[in-house]
Amino acid sequence: MADDPLVVGNSTDAVILVGGQGTRLRPLTLSAPKPMLPVAGLPFLQHLLARIAEAGITHVVLATSFKAEVFEQHFGDGADLGLELDYVTETEPLGTGGGIRNVLPKLRGDTIMVFNGDVLGGADLGAVLDTHASSRADVTLHLVRVSDPRAFGCVPTDESGRVTEFLEKTEDPPTDQINAGCYVFRREYIEKIPGGRAVSVEREVFPVLLAEGAHVQGHVDNSYWRDMGTPEDFIRGSADVVRGIAPSPALPGQRGEFLVHSGAGVAPGALLIGGTVVGRGAEVGAGARLDGAVLFDGARVEAGATVERSIIGFGARIGPRALVRDAVIGDGANIGARCELLNGARVWPGVDLPDGGLRFSSDV
Ligand code: GTP
Repeated sequence: MADDPLVVGNSTDAVILVGGQGTRLRPLTLSAPKPMLPVAGLPFLQHLLARIAEAGITHVVLATSFKAEVFEQHFGDGADLGLELDYVTETEPLGTGGGIRNVLPKLRGDTIMVFNGDVLGGADLGAVLDTHASSRADVTLHLVRVSDPRAFGCVPTDESGRVTEFLEKTEDPPTDQINAGCYVFRREYIEKIPGGRAVSVEREVFPVLLAEGAHVQGHVDNSYWRDMGTPEDFIRGSADVVRGIAPSPALPGQRGEFLVHSGAGVAPGALLIGGTVVGRGAEVGAGARLDGAVLFDGARVEAGATVERSIIGFGARIGPRALVRDAVIGDGANIGARCELLNGARVWPGVDLPDGGLRFSSDV
């Protein structure tokens, strides 16, 4: 954590971008915005807010758009989390850069730490702020090293750590350093973002800043990092929080192979492994096998069913001896007995599959 009281504290605001539609996580994001989906029993955003509070930042502005009202209904003024929360809503989505520019009237300090609202991270935020202050940068980007950087924004730096290029998703990346979705801006660099229209921070703001010769610094580390944007990553990230691989100050001390929330029922003989989460009021029947399963509140998995690396939405039901593997089941859907749902299957909310109604083999 930074020691410099001029950097952390009252002179640093946090901004979290939470206005995206989360299309890759549909159908779960039809009823809740992605940052509000439960991870280890808490809205994903709560884990990030706890990290921000832990770093000593107290004023947080949420840049909302899609399903904007849900955030304030849940978090209110933030006092329960030891934070002061402000909300700024875009009537038309302004993109990641436009969303940052749009919160300008709410900012109080000269140093602004911006977060994508869907990144599960373990970086030392104080250290990122220290890099920003000590390098006297205009903008500092948190960068992480990954084994396959092709699907991400690639960000090479020179020997002093200064960013030389910002390359969105390239087949031939010159570095394994990627944009981790956390930036520190000097206030005037937010004022420079064009107002009143959609702007992408990745495709427009950073390339323009570099072309204009601004000092953009990289803060590189090997901290835990996962973009929770796809079902596969959401499931992996959730399991990592349950198992303590991904740090979360919002869940002190709760670590193990599975997490069962209050009011849930797990019958004898059910097997829960792989970072499985059983939400509030959810039910798991005898002999069911849950491996890396994410059961939202009120979901039911009946006797003898198998759920592997899948998300079961609020109040959805998996019938006896059904098999659900690498799938997403929407809220309130009913998967009949012995059905098989595999390899990226997505069932929309409320859909009712009759017993034995969908299989990949001829035996019943
Ligand atoms: P997909 O539709 O699945 O790509 O998800 P997404 O809409 O969340 O987009 P993406 O993952 O690229 O967004 C990165 C972060 O920026 C997320 O935390 C989004 O909530 C946020 N975001 C994306 N677009 C906007 C926007 O127009 N306004 C605001 N305020 N935030 C946005």
